[in-house]
Amino acid sequence: MGHDIRLDDALESYVRASLEDEPELYKRLRAETDALGAISVMQIGWIQARFMQAILQMTGARVYVEIGVFTGYSSLAMADALPDDGRIIALDISDEWPAMGQKYWDEAGVADKIDLRIGDASAAMDNLINSDLKGRVDVVFIDADKGGMEHYLTQAHTLLRGGGVVLADNVLWSGDVINTADTSANTRAIRAFNTALKNDSRFHVSMVPVGDGITIAVKR
Ligand SMILES: C[S@@+](CC[C@H](N)C(=O)[O-])C[C@H]1O[C@@H](n2cnc3c(N)ncnc32)[C@H](O)[C@@H]1O
Repeated sequence: MGHDIRLDDALESYVRASLEDEPELYKRLRAETDALGAISVMQIGWIQARFMQAILQMTGARVYVEIGVFTGYSSLAMADALPDDGRIIALDISDEWPAMGQKYWDEAGVADKIDLRIGDASAAMDNLINSDLKGRVDVVFIDADKGGMEHYLTQAHTLLRGGGVVLADNVLWSGDVINTADTSANTRAIRAFNTALKNDSRFHVSMVPVGDGITIAVKR
């Protein structure tokens, strides 16, 4: 059996130090988000952002759908990785948090790439499926309500082109996916999502321990 290295804090710092520095603008958005308190853990980290940017570049992505914007950090990072004619459809049920990100999108000069749609993501995904984007999306990032993950996966499959990619966040859920004492609805939903994808022949599935665990599912 192959060996997967475990990152302790020192090794994670080394990984961070080995990457290009997080831009000052990103740091300011992170600091403003941190000031919201414990909820700020919802924001992806810089290491994960670099990883996801690489996936957008590897897939030659032009159309990226983000389910779960929060304060706009992942949208900002992905907008930077898309070409000038790239487009983000950014979905969130809250209008309060993405408004924080909007300032940073403006300052970064990427706001024109980001089409923010406020409302329930499931309905928004149905609207996209009924638009000319059906079968034309390159990457879908699932990072919203955990109970919706399986449905978003099915919707994403319809939206994606062949070879398009689903990125699903929090699939290791701080390790609680293997904590048998944790029977909360969110944890059960993530376990169910992971099990469903393992058996889903429509995708080539990989799971990587970046951030809180990311699944990469490539549409066959
Ligand atoms: C984990 S955060 C997203 C973090 C963001 N990707 C980032 O890296 O900063 C989850 C977001 O999903 C949104 N959300 C929760 N349920 C939703 C739903 N049913 N439809 C759309 N957005 C939803 C929340 O408002 C929240 O902003």
